[in-house]
Amino acid sequence: MAARTFDVVAFGATSFVGRILCRNLLEQFGTRGAVSWAIAGRSKARLEELRASLGAEAADVELRVADAADDASLRALCASTRVVVSTVGPYALHGEPLVRACAEGGTDYCDLTGEVQWIRRMLDRYESVARASGARIVHCCGFDSIPSDLGVHFLQREAVRRFGAPCPRVKMRVKAMRGGFSGGTAASLMNLVKEAVDDPALRKELADPYSLCPPGSAPAVRQPNVVAPELDADFDAWIGPFVMSAINTRIVHRTNALSGHAYGREFRYDEAMITGRGVPGALAAGAMVAGLAGFMAAGAIGPLRSALQGFVLPKPGEGPSPEAQRTGFFDLRFVGTAADGRRLRTKVTGDRDPGYGSTGKMLGQAAACLAVDIPKIARGGGFWTPASLFGDKLIERLVSHAGLTFEVLADAEDGAASR
Ligand SMILES: NC(=O)c1ccc[n+]([C@@H]2O[C@H](COP(=O)([O-])OP(=O)(O)OC[C@H]3O[C@@H](n4cnc5c(N)ncnc54)[C@H](OP(=O)(O)O)[C@@H]3O)[C@@H](O)[C@H]2O)c1
Repeated sequence: MAARTFDVVAFGATSFVGRILCRNLLEQFGTRGAVSWAIAGRSKARLEELRASLGAEAADVELRVADAADDASLRALCASTRVVVSTVGPYALHGEPLVRACAEGGTDYCDLTGEVQWIRRMLDRYESVARASGARIVHCCGFDSIPSDLGVHFLQREAVRRFGAPCPRVKMRVKAMRGGFSGGTAASLMNLVKEAVDDPALRKELADPYSLCPPGSAPAVRQPNVVAPELDADFDAWIGPFVMSAINTRIVHRTNALSGHAYGREFRYDEAMITGRGVPGALAAGAMVAGLAGFMAAGAIGPLRSALQGFVLPKPGEGPSPEAQRTGFFDLRFVGTAADGRRLRTKVTGDRDPGYGSTGKMLGQAAACLAVDIPKIARGGGFWTPASLFGDKLIERLVSHAGLTFEVLADAEDGAASR
């Protein structure tokens, strides 16, 4: 590893979220700070344009040209750095050659994918390769699934401290969030819907809450799943489905499996959005279910999907405005119930829009954590989750440098907060 030039290379630096990531890397590490970094992408001209847009202090940032479809260029990229952080998506379309190059070359890797089907494919094809080479591969290092995965880790750590054991039942509820969509996220979602329409086996896999757990490790316990409006007594409010739960719950269960079921083999977990109290709350939850169903149905029909991509959803490279990123935020509430019925309430918040302003900061901290905080001797090669690999180290970084908070709440405080 000593021969590698950089700690971190940001591949896909010219993407919408990659630009935010690079701005954050520059702000925190400059060009001669604790983490050395470079930018990479398929077009030298676009990389030069990005570097110029970052200002004079970025003049020393080095560029590397590599194409996601060119194995030789990816191998050279991987050999130059300890960590590749990739925002080249949709990952299911462009991501595999880079994961292969990292797994084969022993280069650590993190990304922003939320594409469960692609992660399963990468696990099946490259987990043993990564174990042998020492490459640590960490998917889902953005809004999906860092706040959920580390939020549960944080709650369970506190539960063990207070109750002497983890909580067998944990809920995550989105109390509030404000943000938008980028072209890359829209393209990833549409590609997932298209793949699922064409493949019944994939639909079955997507419905399995343990689909990312190591084969044979899934507990027998049935998982809750919020798909219709429900009254949630723990929050004294109506709830509706949360679209990211399809990836977040899978990552949380993989963390549990990789940690020898540290949350227990009876662990049950779900995620939902709080829509409010009384009739308005119930109506909002119903509208959310209908809206989500309509969107998925439209995405499943070829011509409607094309129309959505052509006229409604943002195009590649587009996303929320700087103002929307700055004024965005998220506020997630967790409640754990111990075996004897005692409750523990926590919250995780972020100070920018979840998918971009905040995700860019989370991803940068995950890459830095991978490069300098977690030695290979402590955690060897393989496919990890954010909580199983980084744990408390990443929480410290997120709180210090990425505008996140992790807090234990008084029971009454959260009850009031959800109203
Ligand atoms: N998990 C989360 O919370 C979260 C949040 C945000 C985004 N995401 C995901 O992150 C990804 C990026 O999103 P985005 O909106 O920022 O994407 P985007 O703006 O559409 O950018 C896509 C990037 O991929 C690059 N690219 C495409 N084909 C390539 C190739 N053959 N070789 C090298 N680079 C190639 C593009 O390079 P050029 O600039 O040269 O065209 C561009 O930099 C998406 O998959 C999205 O779903 C996840």
